[in-house]
Amino acid sequence: MPDDLLRYRSQFPILETTTYLISNSLGAMPRAVADSLQAYADLWGARGVRAWEDKWWMLALEVGDQIGALMNAPAGSVNIHQNVTVCQAVAASCFDFSGKRNKVVYDDLNFPGVMYFWEAQRRRGARVHMVATDDGVHVPTERMLAAIDEETAVVPISHVIFRSAYIQDAKAIIEKAHRVGARVILDTFQSLGTVPVDITALGADFAVGGVLKWLCGGAGVAYLYVRPDLASKLEPTLTGWFAHQEPFAFETGPIRYTDGPYRFSTGTSNLPALYAAQPGLKIIQEVGVENIRKKSERQTARLIELAESHGWRVNTPRDPAQRGGTVSIDMPNAKEVCAELLKRDILVDYRPRAGVRMSPHFYNQDEELDTAIAAVEEILSAMKVPAR
Ligand SMILES: Cc1ncc(COP(=O)(O)O)c(C=O)c1O
Repeated sequence: MPDDLLRYRSQFPILETTTYLISNSLGAMPRAVADSLQAYADLWGARGVRAWEDKWWMLALEVGDQIGALMNAPAGSVNIHQNVTVCQAVAASCFDFSGKRNKVVYDDLNFPGVMYFWEAQRRRGARVHMVATDDGVHVPTERMLAAIDEETAVVPISHVIFRSAYIQDAKAIIEKAHRVGARVILDTFQSLGTVPVDITALGADFAVGGVLKWLCGGAGVAYLYVRPDLASKLEPTLTGWFAHQEPFAFETGPIRYTDGPYRFSTGTSNLPALYAAQPGLKIIQEVGVENIRKKSERQTARLIELAESHGWRVNTPRDPAQRGGTVSIDMPNAKEVCAELLKRDILVDYRPRAGVRMSPHFYNQDEELDTAIAAVEEILSAMKVPAR
């Protein structure tokens, strides 16, 4: 069957020289990024400080809305920061952990950087409760639900687990949190762009993520969605002049928060990163996440089938409804195999307790999956490791 999405391949130069199966880490760069960055330099060069009024002041809002459109978030509900850690920190700064409601619940498959941030909030009174996985692939939803109680302030969890691509039942977790008065920060870094996300239907209080993986947007742009009906009730203490009601009044003393879109911003935007992010966002919007998902389900199923035919351990759910865009394959000597694949320009990565992660995106050909698996077979045979 012809694969209609392959028509986008020519927009990604690196696909000509590599087998690019690493969009879970860094999406391929769209060719148009070079022009976009040139446009930034041209505007800066020609217009200097006037560029703020021409374009730059509203650019973070523009990019926030482009990202928001991909997850059915209303216009103006997405703020931009440099990375997910900062997004978590801005969200966390809306909470007071000095009272009885100071519990922070997440699972031990959460992204480690997110854990490092929340563990450090113990000094602010947060009580971290980590729910354990048994199999390293998923955490039973019932276990998550049981841990969320009346003392829970916030539940910062991943929608799709970075190690295994397991899709958490975000809806059930959010509903339980809301029943007991807790808030949820949903990390959609590993879902948005490959798994459909409807943040309004999910009812998440916050959503965070970045554009550099499945959104092909490069480093330096991360998003923080805040549910619109909640936003005006929250006062982040990690704040800055962009979040002021009248930033150009340069008032002294405490901030008067804006009720407008930049309420959860801090200071000056990372402009070049915003320019670099736009072409990828435009392409993903055009391709459509539903189409990406359909192809991803097929290609990840194919990878699982190939890995299992070799007897390699697959640390990713078999059920497509529970599986994101990545397949983690723990073949013998996985770390060394990964290094060999990289030498052959087959771009994948290795994560402890996951194995080699392979992440086809809309621009990958089915044959590239066969190429990668055949290369693993060859590498293992050269290592004289029994393939099974
Ligand atoms: C689920 C998830 N959250 C967060 C991060 C990283 O966040 P940051 O933007 O702070 O580097 C990653 C990166 O791999 C991730 O997979």
